[in-house]
Amino acid sequence: MTYQKRILITGGAGFIGSHAVRFFVNTYPEYLVINFDALTYAGNLENLRDIESAPNYIFVHGDITDGAVIKQTFLDYQVSDVLHFAAESHVDRSITDPLGFIKTNVLGTVNLLLEAKSLWKDAYQEHVFYHVSTDEVYGSLGSSGLFKETTPYDPQSPYSASKASSDHFVRAFANTYGLTIKISNCSNNYGPYQFPEKLLPLMINNIRHGKPLPVYGDGRQVRDWLYVVDHVAAIDRIFHGGQPGETYNIGGECEMENIVLVRLLCDLIDQREGKEPGFSQRLITYVKDRPGHDRRYAIDCSKIKSELGWTPATGIEEGLRRTIEWYFTHQEWLDHVTSGAYRTYYQKQYS
Ligand code: NAD
Ligand code: TYD
Repeated sequence: MTYQKRILITGGAGFIGSHAVRFFVNTYPEYLVINFDALTYAGNLENLRDIESAPNYIFVHGDITDGAVIKQTFLDYQVSDVLHFAAESHVDRSITDPLGFIKTNVLGTVNLLLEAKSLWKDAYQEHVFYHVSTDEVYGSLGSSGLFKETTPYDPQSPYSASKASSDHFVRAFANTYGLTIKISNCSNNYGPYQFPEKLLPLMINNIRHGKPLPVYGDGRQVRDWLYVVDHVAAIDRIFHGGQPGETYNIGGECEMENIVLVRLLCDLIDQREGKEPGFSQRLITYVKDRPGHDRRYAIDCSKIKSELGWTPATGIEEGLRRTIEWYFTHQEWLDHVTSGAYRTYYQKQYS
């Protein structure tokens, strides 16, 4: 079969990447989706069980820090576009291992850009290099204001510094060589298949096991929460309709203090489980703050709304209910992740 596009999705075994892979495989049978993933601790092919046999889906086990493997993959599949998700994504890990973040997020991104530059050189306008980035590149806000696409970069953690750097390289390749690029910077995603080191799945898992719920510092840091399915819908709009060279901020229009969010989560789980009010909140434990903890993120997503007609469709209560329902009805997924059993899925299915 001749495919209209042959899209390389990097990091497709991770949280957001797996939602994007599923969406593109199911929505566009005329596209070939090549999921390129190193299967680090955050990569889990069990996330894609339901689509792994689709005719327009291919998994390639590879590392973006390895230029030779990227070159071979671009050539083997004549990659026409890149949707780049692969990254080290957890701020706390970046504090203990900044070099690992530079290697994957900066060097890995440049490796991909170099190969796109080489393979697409005769017609840059026909190919898109899409970089999935974060609102954390803009730094930390005071009690008012919103991040706009024009807000100057001011990253504060090793994670956000590495993502800011990769954004700059993506823009530099557009400016210097003429690649067609698109970038989106989004807020905190939540939903099914998120690794339980991030706030919400960690709290859900701990509530399941009656373990303490560690809230950093005073718990009054503010994040904007975006349901992952809405994020993928935004990426689809930008990939197909966004202006070449442009950046789009994506947010859930849902700012919340961490402690307020955790309390709401506790209450919704207690309702589902038929527990008395306050049952799970008693597990909340204030712990030592994260070093350099950003105080507030908030997004102005009016550009994508007005230009591309996208809107965050899922409110926080609905999104949390769906997320809770998913984790409670997929306890095997959580158990495999926490026991490490998910690491063997690749060998079982693919070798
Ligand atoms: P994740 O940690 O769940 O998944 C990352 C994926 O990348 C994993 O499958 C992992 O195996 C793969 N990977 C890591 N290093 C690799 C390498 N060297 N080569 C190939 N594959 C590699 O991440 P996520 O939460 O799904 O985030 C995806 C992207 O979105 C990242 O670029 C992240 O910076 C960005 N982002 C995430 C959020 C969020 O809330 N999760 C918010 C804003 C932006
Ligand atoms: P996280 O999910 O790590 O995302 P990010 O650091 O990229 O925003 O954390 C979300 C917020 O929750 C952040 O302010 C840190 C806080 N947090 C806790 O209070 N306790 C935890 O155990 C975790 C993982 C995060």
